[in-house]
Amino acid sequence: MTRLDRVEQTTGFTGPPLTPRTAVIWSVLAAELDRHAGDQLTVLDVGGGTGGFAVPLAQAGHQVTVVDASPDALAALTRRAAEAGVADRVRAVQGDGDALAGLVEPAGADLVLCHSVLEVVDDPAPVAAALVAALRPGGAASVLVAGRAAAVLGRAMNGHLDVAAALAAAPTGSAGPRDTLRRRFDAEGAAALLGAAGLAVEEIHGVRVLADLLPAAVADGQPAALVELERALAARSPYRELAAQLHLFARRPA
Ligand SMILES: C[S@@+](CC[C@H](N)C(=O)[O-])C[C@H]1O[C@@H](n2cnc3c(N)ncnc32)[C@H](O)[C@@H]1O
Repeated sequence: MTRLDRVEQTTGFTGPPLTPRTAVIWSVLAAELDRHAGDQLTVLDVGGGTGGFAVPLAQAGHQVTVVDASPDALAALTRRAAEAGVADRVRAVQGDGDALAGLVEPAGADLVLCHSVLEVVDDPAPVAAALVAALRPGGAASVLVAGRAAAVLGRAMNGHLDVAAALAAAPTGSAGPRDTLRRRFDAEGAAALLGAAGLAVEEIHGVRVLADLLPAAVADGQPAALVELERALAARSPYRELAAQLHLFARRPA
């Protein structure tokens, strides 16, 4: 029985349909929700976009605030929350991740999400510090960042050896001004960033170890098998290090 199966039996939380992009993350989050079964959690999703995580968490009964820089994303979030019948449990706040202190109550969140944001902000350190400050002592952070090794391999496999070389050589893991991301991470670097901000990293998983490497016919033809394989490989070295994204689950010390 997987962690997620166990959680479904104890809390009734099923979450959205699992995909290779989300299955590992929901498994980790579900285990945290299970720890607090029966409680309504205060959740903060920084850069939560259109609510792919926020809305299912609200559907599970939690109170979710999404802080995002994009008004368009927040408008889509608000529509999605209304359609799901959870508008009263989802608050949309426009703002910058490193200005959280002025936007949300300090030390008020039980769970903070920051997915696919630290690779695009000007400087990830103040955002990481802001995540910690928003968490109550003992609260948990779910952080998803772009993986560096997968980007190098992906560019090389597509024939862009110059870009692969630039990515591999650059300390930031970015190929330069034309790259859509300002930085990419390896597990040690991401853990060090969170550790320096005051979080204790408890788990690191690879997300999309295989999904981006497979021909579409395989990925689309065997979705359940792919999800299971992603879950089986996510915590295991060397697969974790080759994943397109790294998921870190960390806690503010009590
Ligand atoms: C790639 S999307 C990820 C959305 C969502 N977290 C997810 O995983 O599906 C990045 C989001 O971060 C937001 N964003 C980028 N920079 C930000 C910042 N400095 N502060 C707050 N949000 C930011 C963008 O508007 C966008 O909605």
